[in-house]
Amino acid sequence: MFMLLIFIINTVLVASADLKPGYYSKTCPQAETIVRDVMKKSLLKEPRSVASIMRFQFHDCFVNGCDGSLLLDDTPTVLGEKLALSNINSLRSFEVVDEIKEALEKACPGIVSCADIIIMASRDAVALTGGPDWQVKLGRLDSLSASQQNSSDIMPSPRSNATTLINLFQKYNLDVKDLVALSGSHSIGKARCFSIMFRLYNQSGSGKPDPALDPDFRAELDKLCPLDVDQNKTGNLDATPVIFDNQYFKDLVGGKGFLNSDQTLFTFPQTQGLVRLYSIDQNEFFKAFVEGMVKLGDLQSDQPGEIRKNCRVVNPRPAPHVLY
Ligand code: HEM
Ligand SMILES: *[C@@H]1O[C@H](CO)[C@@H](O)[C@H](O)[C@H]1NC(C)=O
Ligand SMILES: *[C@@H]1O[C@H](CO)[C@@H](O)[C@H](O)[C@H]1NC(C)=O
Ligand SMILES: *[C@@H]1O[C@H](CO)[C@@H](O)[C@H](O)[C@H]1NC(C)=O
Ligand SMILES: *[C@@H]1O[C@H](CO)[C@@H](O)[C@H](O)[C@H]1NC(C)=O
Repeated sequence: MFMLLIFIINTVLVASADLKPGYYSKTCPQAETIVRDVMKKSLLKEPRSVASIMRFQFHDCFVNGCDGSLLLDDTPTVLGEKLALSNINSLRSFEVVDEIKEALEKACPGIVSCADIIIMASRDAVALTGGPDWQVKLGRLDSLSASQQNSSDIMPSPRSNATTLINLFQKYNLDVKDLVALSGSHSIGKARCFSIMFRLYNQSGSGKPDPALDPDFRAELDKLCPLDVDQNKTGNLDATPVIFDNQYFKDLVGGKGFLNSDQTLFTFPQTQGLVRLYSIDQNEFFKAFVEGMVKLGDLQSDQPGEIRKNCRVVNPRPAPHVLY
């Protein structure tokens, strides 16, 4: 009578999983091909979308590990990460992840996690736009919850300087080299005027623009983002925004980084050498980028997880059966 056994009829598994390449080779051998095919279609339909998806890996993995928590929609009881400070009006292309998930559920229902979809799709975004291709480790589980507060507390602002970023990345076992290489993800994609207004008009409260900006580039940005602009308007993160290459680093050396957090990697001595190196040696950049992405993907959640059926919602839980 003292023993109360509660059986929750469900498949909640321990989250900390053994990640490995080819994790789905028996259970869903087509998984990686399916993801890449949808990503190819998405690239053709809207080139920016693959960059938008690659960004998910950063925003998912930094908040409680790579657990697909980013993909959960808000519910009446849980505020998810989509509306967190760094994500609201900014993260996009969630519908492409939905499309990938639908195709995977058709081929092998209940097998491939949303967390793994982010990892595969991010790799594909890079490979399909001219960057390196690599083997990804898989076997992650999807979270049962999300926290808007945690995301807002963790994700860095575009105002950050290199020192702040070095310290942040260090907490995730990512060193200075990882930080600089991973920032090279800004070789593809766009950002809003919202993210650079302070830099153009009031850097560090000075009432002046960021002195590190090349004057011609600043004139361009002033035109793109005048003081009264709709701050949702976007500009390219580097001069070749649909090609994954080392142009981003060449731009930084020339004072043409879009975000303050980008340009600071060149102005701060701790990171300047790596920016110079990657600006002249694309192979070194690619090598370091792959290493960084693998380390980022290794960040794990210590919470229980599941394989979600729909990436936007936690699987429905049947009422617990209470047995005496
Ligand atoms: C180092 C610290 C980082 C900061 C401060 C940062 C900040 C930002 C900001 C502010 C934007 C534009 C948001 C907007 O205006 O709507 C952006 C875009 C982007 N970020 Fe980062 N980011 C960082 C690192 C990373 C990492 C590590 C990755 C991927 C591994 C990444 C991938 C991207 C991509 C691909 C875009 C373009 C997305 C699109 O076009 O929709 N970023 N980032
Ligand atoms: C938010 O972060 C705290 C502190 O790291 C952690 O204990 C908690 O589980 C996180 N919440 C979610 C929903 O991930
Ligand atoms: C970098 O940013 C932090 C946080 O805003 C600030 O405390 C620090 O003084 C900055 N470092 C430099 C060298 O500007
Ligand atoms: C610039 O920033 C400073 C400090 O954040 C603020 O006090 C000032 O009002 C700002 N100036 C303008 C023109 O927005
Ligand atoms: C951008 O658009 C969203 C949604 O349409 C709107 O709510 C928001 O206020 C706009 N943001 C800025 C900075 O103008």
